[in-house]
Amino acid sequence: MDVFRIEGGHSLSGTVEAGGAKNAALPIFAATLLTAGTCRINAVPDLTDIRFMGKILRYLGARVEQVGPHSWEIEAGEVHHRAPYELVRQMRASVCLLGPLVGRLRQAEVSLPGGCVIGPRPIDLHLKGLNRLGCEIDIRNGYVHVDGSGLHGDYLYLGGRHGSTVTGTANMIMAAVLAPGTTRIESAACEPEVVDLCQMLVKMGAKIHGIGSHYLKIEGVAELTGCEHTVLPDRIEAGTLLLAGAITNSEITVQNVIPGHMRALLDAMEGCGIPSEILPDERQITVHPTESPRNPVEIITLPHPGFPTDLQAQMLALMTLTPGLSFITERVYPNRFMHVPELLRMGAHVSMEGPSAVVKGVDKLYGAPIMASDLRASAALVLAGLAAEGETWIQRIYHLDRGYEKLEEKLNKLGARVERLNEDSIPRELVEAG
Ligand code: EPZ
Repeated sequence: MDVFRIEGGHSLSGTVEAGGAKNAALPIFAATLLTAGTCRINAVPDLTDIRFMGKILRYLGARVEQVGPHSWEIEAGEVHHRAPYELVRQMRASVCLLGPLVGRLRQAEVSLPGGCVIGPRPIDLHLKGLNRLGCEIDIRNGYVHVDGSGLHGDYLYLGGRHGSTVTGTANMIMAAVLAPGTTRIESAACEPEVVDLCQMLVKMGAKIHGIGSHYLKIEGVAELTGCEHTVLPDRIEAGTLLLAGAITNSEITVQNVIPGHMRALLDAMEGCGIPSEILPDERQITVHPTESPRNPVEIITLPHPGFPTDLQAQMLALMTLTPGLSFITERVYPNRFMHVPELLRMGAHVSMEGPSAVVKGVDKLYGAPIMASDLRASAALVLAGLAAEGETWIQRIYHLDRGYEKLEEKLNKLGARVERLNEDSIPRELVEAG
C-alpha cells in the first residue's frame, strides 16, 4: 500500500486545475443504464471509484470503454438487474444503481451497502421513495430486492433527520424519468452534482422541472436516448486546493471552478480573514497570503447550499493553526471526525463535544506518522502535513485515491514536497515509536 511522505513548511505558488466532480460522475455513470443508446461522458476524473463503477456496469452487461484520459463511452444495450455484494460493498455510491435499474428494467437486486467510518449509511429514504413510486421492496440475505412492475409516478417527500439525501434524490429521479405519470419530489437534494445529473437526463429526453430546487416535477417518458455530457467541476477538490493555499499562507489560483457552487466555503474563508478573489472569467479563484492573523470561525455543515460536509475535515485542519477557539459542528454526519485523533498526533488542540469539534489554534503542527481513514479525512491530513514543521508520513493513501486524481502531482506543481512511496519506506524508528 502507498504512503505519502510530506516535507512541510513550504509555501505554494502558481495555478492548478480542478477536475470533474466524482459525486456527479458516479450517478451519471449509473444513469447510462437508463438507455440502450450510447452515452459519452467527458471530464470524468480518473479515480478508483470511477473505474470501479465502470467495472460494476460491465458486470451488469454494459459496454464500458475509457476512450480518453477523462472520457468514457457506455452502452447499456442488454443489462441485467443484479449487483452483487462483492462489488457493491466496496463502494457505497453503488447504491445509486437502484433507481436506473428499476427505471429501465422494472426490477433491481442490489446488495445493501455497508456502513463506513464516517457513520452508518442508511438507505431508508431511498426505499421509502421507491415504495411511494409503486415498488415492492424486500430485504433478505443482505440484498434489496425491488419489484418495480407497478412503477408509477407519485408524490414523495425525501427529507430525513439530516436533511435530504443526495444519492437518494438521484435514485428517485432516475426511477421516475421512465415511470408512467408525473412524479413530484419534495425536499429533493439540490447539490450541484444532482443538478448535473438532471441536465444529462434532460439531454437524454427526460422531462424534469425545478432543477436546482428542493422541489422537482418529473413527467415520465417511454424511453431515453444516449447523449454526450461533460461532468461539472469538482467543488470539493477545488475547495481542498484553495484550503491548501490558505493553510500554507500562499498565493495560488484554482482553475475550472464554478464560484457559485462554493459560496459557503468562500464565505467561511472570508470570515476567517483569508483574502480570495474570483477572477473576471468567473472560472478561477485566487487565494492570497495575509500578514494578519486568521480569525477563528464557527461552522455547521448542512446540505447545499450550506457548508459542505465534504470540506469539514479540511477546514478543521486549517482551524488547528488559526488563533482562538473555532467550533465545527457536523449536522450531516455527526461522527465524521476520524481526522481529529491524527491531527492531535501532530500537536493540534481539538476536543469533541458530541457532533461538535472545539478547535484551539496552535502556533505550529509537527510532522508525525499518521493514518488516513476516509477520503476527506485523508485530504485534511495532507493539508496539515503541508503546513507542519518537519516530515509527515500518511499511511493508507488508497483512501485519497478514491476521490482525488494525482493530488500529490497537483500540490508538487505548486511547490509542495509530497512523495508517494511504498509503505515499507517508512523509517522503522517511526513505526516502532507507534
Ligand atoms: C453523498 O453521499 C456524497 N457521495 C457524500 O460524499 C456526501 O458527503 C453526502 O452526499 C452529503 O453531501 C456521493 O455523492 C457519491 P446522503 P450520500 O444520502 O448520498 C442520512 C465524499 O466524501 N440518510 O445525502 O450517501 C445519512 O446518514 C462522499 O465524496 C438517511 O438517514 O449522502 C446522512 O446523515 C462522502 N437515510 C445524511 O442523510 C437515507 O436513506 C446525508 O446522506 C439516506 C441518507
